[in-house]
Amino acid sequence: MKIVTIVGARPQIIKAAALSRAIRTNYQGQIQETIVHTGQHYDANMSQVFFDELEIPAPDINLNIGSASHGKQTAQMLKGIEEVLLKVMPDFLVVFGDTNSTLAGALAGAKMHIPIVHIEAGLRSYNKSMPEEINRIMCDHSSTLLFVPTKAGIRNLEKEGFRLNAKAPFTIDNPGIFHSGDIMFDNLVHFGNLAEQRSDIIQKLDLNPNNFILCTIHRDNNTDIQERLTAIFSAMLKIANEHGQQVVIPLHPRTSKLLKDKLAPAVYTAITNSKLVRIIPPVSYIEMILLEKHSTLILSDSGGVQKEAYFFHKPLIIARPETEWVEIVENGAGVIADASEQRIYDAYSHLTKTALSFPPVFGNGRAAIFICKTLLENKQL
Ligand code: UD1
Ligand code: UDP
Repeated sequence: MKIVTIVGARPQIIKAAALSRAIRTNYQGQIQETIVHTGQHYDANMSQVFFDELEIPAPDINLNIGSASHGKQTAQMLKGIEEVLLKVMPDFLVVFGDTNSTLAGALAGAKMHIPIVHIEAGLRSYNKSMPEEINRIMCDHSSTLLFVPTKAGIRNLEKEGFRLNAKAPFTIDNPGIFHSGDIMFDNLVHFGNLAEQRSDIIQKLDLNPNNFILCTIHRDNNTDIQERLTAIFSAMLKIANEHGQQVVIPLHPRTSKLLKDKLAPAVYTAITNSKLVRIIPPVSYIEMILLEKHSTLILSDSGGVQKEAYFFHKPLIIARPETEWVEIVENGAGVIADASEQRIYDAYSHLTKTALSFPPVFGNGRAAIFICKTLLENKQL
């Protein structure tokens, strides 16, 4: 069976690691994978580092599209992916998540009648001003096999008219819905224990283990709006100063490039002079999971980092107006604080004083194996 896998943005490369590993270890000789990198992320610390560290085969094709406006970027990817598909003609086209690379892949494949496999299907924020919400809805509705990480995702699809009891043979008009668990959890299970042996980032950054806040910010409605970005960074400064907490922020290049222009000048100066708040370049996956594992609390607007906070049983402040990972909030392990300085501060006080519980919601760490098995069972003759 031939599959083409599309990656482009950092989290997709990380998710692809789990799928490629499952193919390599359990389905060698049965599934032949061609990896196509759109080039959406291209800095070494946003792309190559993950191929090296997570032992992903080098992409067979890199379209090198790079950054551009949504329309231009997606259009160039669509053209490039179509050309690859015409040559390879795979049995399935696999896409992950909700980026422009996901949308371009789904559109290219669906128009060529190649069955789309959407991994991380069914998630919704119910906020269509997010580019990701448009991407994931379009992708789910173009897919033949939908692998859904959570029960909330299954309910979302049901509300949109997907039939949960559809029977094979599956097609774009009769898609199959599978509750697979979360493929990112597979990586955590695989790399969680290896991480300590492979990195000394906690010592290198001179962090007090289990006594620092980890933060990531990159959502466009946080980076592009001065009041929101300023409120988030002001809250971090206030918590750091009042509680003597170190805060470490591996900063996405989108945010780094906008920080000086978009932060209120006084907050920019305070952050850059702070001895407690440390802005560092993006780190590798192994380094990131070590930072997560040893943090006291995580503040983030990232989809992946929200889940990883839960995997590591860390209290989470969500710097967004809503989340797709509703179970985290329903279980009380995370608080939606949006980009409000007061709400972030209050969430910190609440979460650090409360005993939290983390019932399993993201599967058993074998999502990729389940996905491979299901693909083999559903290959059309
Ligand atoms: C994209 C995804 C988002 C995902 C995120 C993961 C879309 C619409 N958004 O957002 O869903 O959460 O990736 O990280 O697909 N840049 C660099 N170097 C790079 C990559 C980007 O400097 O290697 C800078 C460029 O200035 C670029 C900006 O970051 O314009 C935004 O990059 P882009 O890929 O368009 O969107 P992200 O914000 O990364
Ligand atoms: N991540 C990383 N280095 C960093 C920041 C994040 O390896 O400096 C990892 C993180 O552990 C998670 C994934 O990147 O696995 C999340 O990607 P990101 O936040 O860019 O995107 P999102 O999940 O929001 O789409």
